[in-house]
Amino acid sequence: MARRKSETLLTHGGRAAIAGYDFINPPIVRGSTVLHANVADMKERSRRFRTDEPGAVNYGLYGTPTHHALFELLSELEGGYRSWAVPSGLTSCTIVMLAFLRAGDHVLVSDSAYGPTRRFCIETLPRYGVQASFYAPTAGRELEAQFRPNTKLLWLESPGSLTFEMQDVPLLAELARKRGVVTAIDNTWATPLYFQPLKCGVDVSVHAATKYICGHSDMLMGTITCTQPAWSPLRQTLFNFGLAVSPEDAYVALRGLRSLAARLRQHRATAARLIEWLLAQTEVERVLYPALPGDPGYEIWKRDMSGATGLFGIVLKPSAGGARLNALVDAVEVFGRGYSWGGFESLLIPVYPERSVAPCEFEGRLFRISAGLEDADDLIDDLKRGFAALRAT
Ligand SMILES: Cc1ncc(COP(=O)(O)O)c(C=O)c1O
Repeated sequence: MARRKSETLLTHGGRAAIAGYDFINPPIVRGSTVLHANVADMKERSRRFRTDEPGAVNYGLYGTPTHHALFELLSELEGGYRSWAVPSGLTSCTIVMLAFLRAGDHVLVSDSAYGPTRRFCIETLPRYGVQASFYAPTAGRELEAQFRPNTKLLWLESPGSLTFEMQDVPLLAELARKRGVVTAIDNTWATPLYFQPLKCGVDVSVHAATKYICGHSDMLMGTITCTQPAWSPLRQTLFNFGLAVSPEDAYVALRGLRSLAARLRQHRATAARLIEWLLAQTEVERVLYPALPGDPGYEIWKRDMSGATGLFGIVLKPSAGGARLNALVDAVEVFGRGYSWGGFESLLIPVYPERSVAPCEFEGRLFRISAGLEDADDLIDDLKRGFAALRAT
């Protein structure tokens, strides 16, 4: 049978792990202890777990059928060998680093990486003898010069979630692979639907499922999908740390995936309407959105990704920043002023990117919109209210 397209996988995938229940979505299976008929049964179940049979159920920490249904679909979507879930998007970033780094190692991190991921690299990794250094997110071949003999991991985030630089993922992954360096990416913006990094040479893809996968701003989760060689160190680290998500959350994430394609189409359409309006305002210098023709990342986005989501940045002219930007943010009534993104409600916040390689050139005049599922006309009216307040300041 021909491989089904991603949108069909979203609705039909992740069912093998729950065969026998007959419900269209997996039931929530709760449990820590698994009971065995006898010693032979115990040995057989342990063998299946030890030999890493997909979907093997041995103890609640190592996944119930509900978890395995989610993992199966995530792996199918990104063409991965195995997937797992952890309690937050941030955990998915940090646990991958812990899996591939040991004392004496060095990790190269994109300067656009999510703030708390950066802080983990700066504040926590050195306590375990690991050094991190940052590189310009738009670096190409020149990144070669920044690999050290002890570099073991290359960390990507494309596009960056505050400044939206696209990275040349296939090229960077190839540079790393030539040196035996593992590549991992925070793929949250594109979702598993619009970008499959493992097909571009990346070893590990992580998502803050908290955002679009869950889609309703009522859950925290990180997911990890990886190649076969990357699974063994990841599995060991995940199990040794004892991290688990609840079966309820696994169920909610799988349920979120079912409607991901439809939600993303609406997020994108609304983002396009808002961007068009914003670009017509004299105070707007630029919109940062890789799917916008003319954006520095547009060509890479078009080459590598099959769609765009609803998160973008807006750079105001220098005269409209500071207190005037704050007045805009304070005046909106439909947009929420809140962190995170990818949910049904639109959010608008000023952002202050932390940087190590070079200061952010948009300091004090950058804000970010997560386009939700409201009527775009209402959102544009709200932006008009915001810009009126900015102009009155
Ligand atoms: C790009 C990116 N990665 C990871 C995370 C972390 O996700 P979580 O909030 O689930 O820890 C975030 C959260 O904002 C993010 O924007």
